[in-house]
Amino acid sequence: MSTPIFLIGPMASGKSAVGALLAGLLGTTLIDTDARVIAAHGSIPEIFAAHGEAGFRRFESEVMAAAVPTQAQREARATAPAVVATGGGSVLAEANRELLAHGFCVYLLTDEADVAQRIGADTTRPLLGSNPLEAWARIFAMRSDLYERTATVIIDTRGKRPGQIAGAILAAY
Ligand code: S3P
Repeated sequence: MSTPIFLIGPMASGKSAVGALLAGLLGTTLIDTDARVIAAHGSIPEIFAAHGEAGFRRFESEVMAAAVPTQAQREARATAPAVVATGGGSVLAEANRELLAHGFCVYLLTDEADVAQRIGADTTRPLLGSNPLEAWARIFAMRSDLYERTATVIIDTRGKRPGQIAGAILAAY
């Protein structure tokens, strides 16, 4: 029976990019929870404007619950574990953390210097506001402990390319 791989970590830590590579290497498809929320409800800024962060979290939790393969599904697809790239706030809800505990949960560790280029002019993440790097650091400081506690393994992604990170995850899996 195969165990799903969950990617957790702060905004812009590379969860989606690494997830796509990893899914390719494992011959399975990537489940990207942000993409599923967007497909069902519209862009993330639109969702925040219409329903607030609380509304976004509700949608995110629904998608998480639907994305986690049941034991029967995992047994039926013995060689193809799901790869699930989560949003940076997925670890906030206890119900989500319980779901994450069913899989091999990989925390993509990064820091402010490493994400700086990727979030410089970001308009897709409402929580980053008008001073993205400062907001990123503040949010990361509040969540870093949760990421650590939820993780099965921690992969230090700093200075590494997505392919190297995917390789490190496979070596640990
Ligand atoms: C969020 C992270 C985003 C997205 C939303 C909220 C967060 O996903 O879910 O903007 O609370 O950290 P990424 O981690 O893929 O940026």
